[in-house]
Amino acid sequence: MPAAILGGLGTYLPPRRVSNEELADRFDTSDEWIRTRTGIRQRRWADTGQSTGDLATEAGHRALKSAGLGLGADVGLVVLATTTPDHPCPATAPDVAARLALGQAAAYDISAVCSGFVYALEVAANAIEAGRVDTALVIGAETYSTILNPHDRTTSVIFGDGAGAAVLRRGDAGQLGSFAGFDLGTDGANKDLIWIPGGGSRQRSTHQEPEAEERYFAMQGKKVFASAVRRMAGSSAALLEHIGWSVESVNHLVGHQANVRILRAVAEQLGIDSQRAVINIDRVGNTSAASIPLALADATGQIAPGDRVLLTAFGGGLTWGSAALTWPDISPV
Ligand code: UT7
Repeated sequence: MPAAILGGLGTYLPPRRVSNEELADRFDTSDEWIRTRTGIRQRRWADTGQSTGDLATEAGHRALKSAGLGLGADVGLVVLATTTPDHPCPATAPDVAARLALGQAAAYDISAVCSGFVYALEVAANAIEAGRVDTALVIGAETYSTILNPHDRTTSVIFGDGAGAAVLRRGDAGQLGSFAGFDLGTDGANKDLIWIPGGGSRQRSTHQEPEAEERYFAMQGKKVFASAVRRMAGSSAALLEHIGWSVESVNHLVGHQANVRILRAVAEQLGIDSQRAVINIDRVGNTSAASIPLALADATGQIAPGDRVLLTAFGGGLTWGSAALTWPDISPV
């Protein structure tokens, strides 16, 4: 049975570190509130002029290196998950593919907010399993600092910028690095819990300019918290059942880094020891579609080849998704 294999992992964080103390000087907040409510100690924000495509290109290049490839590699598909594309039109992925000299590779963006990386992995794995491409580059990249409302302390302290990328190759089911399955879902009736209300065709069709506040990312944190725990735990359990993995056999739970309290609650609901939940939100904040590859790269020292890894994410849409794989022998770059 053909399967998609994880062949390389690359990450890029913009150099500018933003501490909780720096935000406490700008907002009515404190290091203590941010740490205890979210687990975040610092995040990175892009420099002036640094776009999502810039971060994605760097992470993509590093993932290619991690897979023993380089610029101009024979890659048939680039899928870029982002909430913050370089332009409303066209997609950012073709530009990233061109900058990586990937010839005429198919390249497109996926808009599934914080679940985007899992969605992108799923479509790339499908393309490989169907025999349409041999190698795919999957990227999650975000510059949330460009969409955060400067008057909203709840969202502005949470989100960070960054990018992570994975190379997927064709291999066989059961091989180290192989993806065992995916579970994806949505609840569009609750789209307004996480959104940017203005700037799209819904608002432009009124032929009125959006209010300033409508151009920014907005989230109803408390409702999202409850949904995130329920959906990530439910999707994870459904996937494990579908592929026949017991909860006890999962060595590492790599959840979307939205809030350390969410990650602990998901582990608890699933019956997974919280020691097995990978956490790096303290260093990078919530990086949305970049969150899972950044957490995977940070945890590589803890994850051994052959370990069973469960990925799970939740975000705007509402969207959620989970993926399961056995860890390959790779070194992230
Ligand atoms: O990535 C996509 C998925 N995203 C998530 O899953 C995020 C889910 N939500 C959360 O992580 C949490 O809901 C937040 C971190 C956003 C908020 O934490 P919370 O424990 O739910 O706080 P809250 O919204 O209930 O607010 C509690 C208090 C409020 O004050 P009062 O009404 O109790 O006086 C807020 O005004 O905390 C206040 N507050 C703040 N205080 C200091 C809200 N933001 C801040 C802040 N600094 N930055």
